[in-house]
Amino acid sequence: MANRIPIVIGNWKLNPTTVAEAKTLFLAVKRGLKKGIQAEVVVSPPFPFIPDLSRLSAAVVLAAQDVFYEESGAFTGEVSPAMLLGFGVTYVIVGHSERRALGESDDQVERKVQVLLRRKMTPVVCIGERERDERGDYFGFVEKQLRSVCKGLTAKQVSQVVIAYEPVWAIGTGKSATVDDVKEMQLFIVSLLTKLYDRATAGRVRIIYGGSVKAENAADLHQVGGMNGFLVGGASLKAEDFLKIIGSVIVR
Ligand code: PGA
Repeated sequence: MANRIPIVIGNWKLNPTTVAEAKTLFLAVKRGLKKGIQAEVVVSPPFPFIPDLSRLSAAVVLAAQDVFYEESGAFTGEVSPAMLLGFGVTYVIVGHSERRALGESDDQVERKVQVLLRRKMTPVVCIGERERDERGDYFGFVEKQLRSVCKGLTAKQVSQVVIAYEPVWAIGTGKSATVDDVKEMQLFIVSLLTKLYDRATAGRVRIIYGGSVKAENAADLHQVGGMNGFLVGGASLKAEDFLKIIGSVIVR
């Protein structure tokens, strides 16, 4: 597990409204990056802003918020991996709960992961339970999602994937999971990956946390939670807050 570079991804979702605002936010993040930061910094804007932002910085890596699993053809409204690669996009968020809520299935998530890996892009696959129950059924829910992602993947392929544990009840609610919840889930995911593959492979997969990460709770979540970084929604829309979160992440 040691020495893996943590990753902090800002998921802008359906924000901001104009390309001018997107550039301002992006440049504020780029300019605020201090020397010696220990995280890979990734920003995931809406599709239309990607071309402009791709010209602004190599220090901040670009991600897309979704992708389609076919490369071309009669698929109105879709965007292919090759189109994104053309603008230097190397990370793609897949299976975010907000997309699953619109009907995206485990099967579609699996196909998207496969096509991205074929293109040597990095899928950031979101998994997480909708609610916490006292019996611990949420572990079964997360297990089912993770098994589905891993189904068609070799050990080498799964090592290229970033797993984002995002409990749905913590997203955008201001109510983050506790550091103990995060640590417990990190151990659960590692042990499941060890069962499905082996210890070395499980140790290579980057596992990050998302769900109401803020400047105030990031350091604790990172240090105690044991994850390799964060997927940040709301707080990534304020450069100052996002930079504080980036600053709280260190290589272990
Ligand atoms: P949040 O969103 O930080 O606003 O809770 C996280 C996410 O949806 O990726």
